[in-house]
Amino acid sequence: MSAAIPELKQFDEAELDRVFTGLEAEVAAQARTLTSGESLEAFRLHWLGRKQGRLGQLSAAWLKSAPAPAKPSLGVRFNQLKAQIESLLQDSLQQRQAGSRGSGLDITLPGAALRIGAEHPLVKTMAEIVNVFQRMGYSVSLGPEVETDFYNFEALNFPPNHPARDTQDTLVIAAQEQKPLRERLLMRTHTSPVQIRSMLEQAPPLHLVIPGKVHRNDAADATHSPVFHQVEGLCVDTNITFSDLKGTLDHAMKAFFGSAVKTRFFPSFFPFTEPSADVQISCIFCAGKGCRKCKHSGWIELLGCGMVDPAVFEAVNQRRLQMGREPVYDIRKISGFAFGMGVDRIAMMKYGIGDIGLLYSGDLRFLEQFA
Ligand code: PHE
Repeated sequence: MSAAIPELKQFDEAELDRVFTGLEAEVAAQARTLTSGESLEAFRLHWLGRKQGRLGQLSAAWLKSAPAPAKPSLGVRFNQLKAQIESLLQDSLQQRQAGSRGSGLDITLPGAALRIGAEHPLVKTMAEIVNVFQRMGYSVSLGPEVETDFYNFEALNFPPNHPARDTQDTLVIAAQEQKPLRERLLMRTHTSPVQIRSMLEQAPPLHLVIPGKVHRNDAADATHSPVFHQVEGLCVDTNITFSDLKGTLDHAMKAFFGSAVKTRFFPSFFPFTEPSADVQISCIFCAGKGCRKCKHSGWIELLGCGMVDPAVFEAVNQRRLQMGREPVYDIRKISGFAFGMGVDRIAMMKYGIGDIGLLYSGDLRFLEQFA
C-alpha cells in the first residue's frame, strides 16, 4: 500500500479540493478491502503510522512548501482526512467484532470463564466466629462505624475525661466542637456501642453477636492497624451469671479452635462490665507447652469480657424513657454478660499471617492464596 508523495504546485482552494477529494477516495477504496485483522492493521499503519504513515509524510511535505496563507486550510483538510480514516477504522473493527459473535457462533467452544471472587480471610474468619454463636441461638446485630460520643463512651459508663477514654485512641470527626460532647461524631473504637443501640431497640431476653469494623489512632506496624475488626457478644436475660459467661466462651473457643483448647480468665477492667475479665486460650501452636508464638507462656490472650455493669442498664433505661419506651432493663430482675474479641489476630493465627497490613493491602498475590 505504499504510494509516492505527489508534488503540489499550487495551493489555491480549487487545487486543494481536487487533491484531497482524490485522497478521500483512495482511503474509502482501501477501507472496503479490509477483511482481516491484519489488513486493518496494515491500513492503519499505512495512513497513520508514526514514522512511515502517509498522512504524516504528506502533511510534512505539503505544509513545508505551502505559502503561509494556504497553511490553515491545509491543516483543516488534513484533520478532516485523519478523522475519516479513524472513523473507518472504528467502523471496520466494530463490524468484525459483531460478525465474529453473530455468524461464527461455535457452541462447542469453552465458554468465557467468569472468575468467582473469594471471601477475604477476615470476612471468612468473622463469619465463622459469628456462626459458632448463631448455633447457640444468638442473632446478629449491626451498627454504624461513625458513632456519637454517647453510644461509644457515655452510655458505656466512660465519664467525660475518664482516663479509660485515652486507652481507645479515638479518631474524631472534624468540626464537631460546637456540639454537646455526647452528640459529637467519631469513628467507633469498638463494637460495644451496638450493645446500647440494640438494648434501646429490643427488650430482654437478648442474645446477640455483633461483628464489625472499628478504628483507632494506632500507628501501623506488624500487629497494629488503625482499622481492625471485632466480634462483640451480648447476652441479657434473667439469672445470667458469670458461670454462663465462662461456659459460653469456653464452648465457643472449643468450637472454633478445636475441643482440645483450654480457656482461663483473668481479672481485668472495662468501664461497662463489672466484674471484667481477659480470656486466654491454651496456645494452639504448641498445645500449651510454650513456643515463640505464645512467648513461651503456653497461653494466648484473645478477648475481653465481663458482666454488664448496672450503670449501662441504667443509661439504657434513661434513654428509653426519653424515647417514650419502657425502661425494661430492670437491674433487680435481669443481668447479662458481654464480650469482645479481635478478629484480625484470630485470622492471623489461623492462616499464619505475620503482618496485619497484608489484610488491608488489597494485594492480589496475597489474597489469591485464599481463593
Ligand atoms: N470493647 C472492649 C474493647 O474493645 C472489649 C469488650 C467488649 C470488653 C465487651 C468487655 C465486654 O476492648
